[in-house]
Amino acid sequence: MKYSLKPMKTILGIESSCDETAAAVVSRGTEILSSVVASQIKVHAPFGGVVPELASRKHLESIAPVVEQALEDAGISRDQIDGVAVTRGPGLVGALLVGFSFAKAYAFALDVPWVGVNHLLGHIHSVLMSPSPPEFPFAALLVSGGHTSIYKVSSRTDMEVMGQTRDDAAGEAFDKVSKAMGLGYPGGEIISKLAESGDPHKISFPRSWLDKKKFDFSFSGIKTAVGRYMQVHEDSWHDEKADIAASFQEAVVEVLATKLINAAKSIGCPRVAVAGGVAANACLRDRVTQLAAKAGMSVHLPDISLCGDNAAMIAAAGYYKLAAGERSPLNMDVFSRMEKL
Ligand code: KG4
Ligand code: ZN
Repeated sequence: MKYSLKPMKTILGIESSCDETAAAVVSRGTEILSSVVASQIKVHAPFGGVVPELASRKHLESIAPVVEQALEDAGISRDQIDGVAVTRGPGLVGALLVGFSFAKAYAFALDVPWVGVNHLLGHIHSVLMSPSPPEFPFAALLVSGGHTSIYKVSSRTDMEVMGQTRDDAAGEAFDKVSKAMGLGYPGGEIISKLAESGDPHKISFPRSWLDKKKFDFSFSGIKTAVGRYMQVHEDSWHDEKADIAASFQEAVVEVLATKLINAAKSIGCPRVAVAGGVAANACLRDRVTQLAAKAGMSVHLPDISLCGDNAAMIAAAGYYKLAAGERSPLNMDVFSRMEKL
């Protein structure tokens, strides 16, 4: 297939890796003309977590109207789109396939190039879209419902894992603790709100440092520790929900923030960033900011609207790939787990 030699400027981004159907129009990789996110929280909340098959079906219903809405909000017509960028993985295969197939068909019909984007690279671009992005390299903590990793980010398309969780992701721990206390889904926002009125030092939940010189994480132990606390204090824990939430959050945040700063020190780089759904957590943002100031490092945090899954970050990452000449073939497939960029 031949493409016209239009300059790459206006990119349509599409994201459907989990429980948000999202589309966005981004100009030159940084200017967000529109960003539409259709959340499926109401569909999954009764089950306490994302039900993959329901997610796929909901994406199917939402994808076309969400894309049309993104174009309308941006005030552009289809023929003004220069390229399409879509999340290729990791994520739920059935959910990914909806956005991926739609993007291929859309690009084919418009006769514009398209590119598959790693969801995690997208999250990193949420930091790079800010008016004062970090210089390269920098250390980035990517912390979401499915991932908890620290990366050395060397360029807009090149990042290397320095450490990652060996079991649960940090966001998953928030979700599971919320579910155990019967507080609902998704747990991150609920727990952090509740924690505001609790004492973070009331209960000493274990910090899982693993090897202190390395940057791997483990969050399954703390989830179990919260469960055990609830068992042991069967009669009283209901009156201590805010303290449990605050003490749990404190334990998670302390490990995340400390390891990020140590990772930046280990590569001799005075710049840190946080991205992903949990980057919206005020306690984490404050702690990273405090520790970085102490260590003489600059901190780069995405706008709250760009922390959770969205398509603007995918369009931004895709823009740089397309502008560099990368093109995805129509027979490309999604991936669920592999860490490709
Ligand atoms: O990046 P994201 O939207 O989806 C994935 O790629 O996983 O992240 C969703 C995760 C959920 O686990 C949610 O509970 C968590 O981010 N989250 C938070 C907060 N807001 C969302 N965790 C802690 N504090 C928050 N304020
Ligand atoms: Zn995500």
